[in-house]
Amino acid sequence: MYEERFDKRRFDELRKIEAETGVVPNAAGSARFKIGNTEAIAAVYGPEEVKPRHLEHADKATIVCKYDMMPFSVPDRAKPGIDRRDMEISEVITSALNRAIFVEDLPKSMISVYVYVTQADAGTRCASLTAASMACADAGLPMRDLVAAVAVGKVGDSIVLDLTKEEEDYEGGTTDIPIAFLQSKGEIVLLQLDGNISREDLKKAIELGRKGAQEIYEIEKNALKRRFL
Ligand code: CDP
Repeated sequence: MYEERFDKRRFDELRKIEAETGVVPNAAGSARFKIGNTEAIAAVYGPEEVKPRHLEHADKATIVCKYDMMPFSVPDRAKPGIDRRDMEISEVITSALNRAIFVEDLPKSMISVYVYVTQADAGTRCASLTAASMACADAGLPMRDLVAAVAVGKVGDSIVLDLTKEEEDYEGGTTDIPIAFLQSKGEIVLLQLDGNISREDLKKAIELGRKGAQEIYEIEKNALKRRFL
């Protein structure tokens, strides 16, 4: 039984969040998003000419995303370079951003998104996607809405919001579900599942994720307002 969280949070409580935009002066847009001990920095370039040319689409923008973990982001040193996990995470971030950005309004152009994880304590794909979406907004790209992402899951018998690495590794068993929303539309733009869960518990977890994402969404909006208003 997992009755009390390792870090004493309520089951439906997010870790402490910091969010800011405009952190990379040379990029068109950028953001830093920190949740507990997980931190991601995103920088966006474009829209610009598509290179290499074969990636160009006549009817929409091409989004290219690169996710990477800094070697010093985890206790064991993350191996430098891009591995299969980095490629998968880059893919899911790209796919979510394709839903968030009006890509059809930017034909024959390229948007490059670089996300670097400086500290990792679980939930890095969610922090990275949230940072990337704030950076896209900071770059002034036309968007349906911001993306708010968070991991939910089951630790032992409890449905919890925003898992830490310690919770992911809980010996009684864990199911990890990164989820992301276009909040004002209620649309899910990322949903992955690592572990087992019943249909009923999955529904509960998704609802918990929606609640957590709403809190993250407000924090993202405030960070953007601080920069522009
Ligand atoms: O980070 P996220 O939860 O989105 O993805 P994951 O593949 O489930 O990784 C979970 C966690 O494992 C990461 O957040 C890191 O804390 C840790 N990790 C690590 O210590 N070393 C790696 N090379 C990759 C991940």
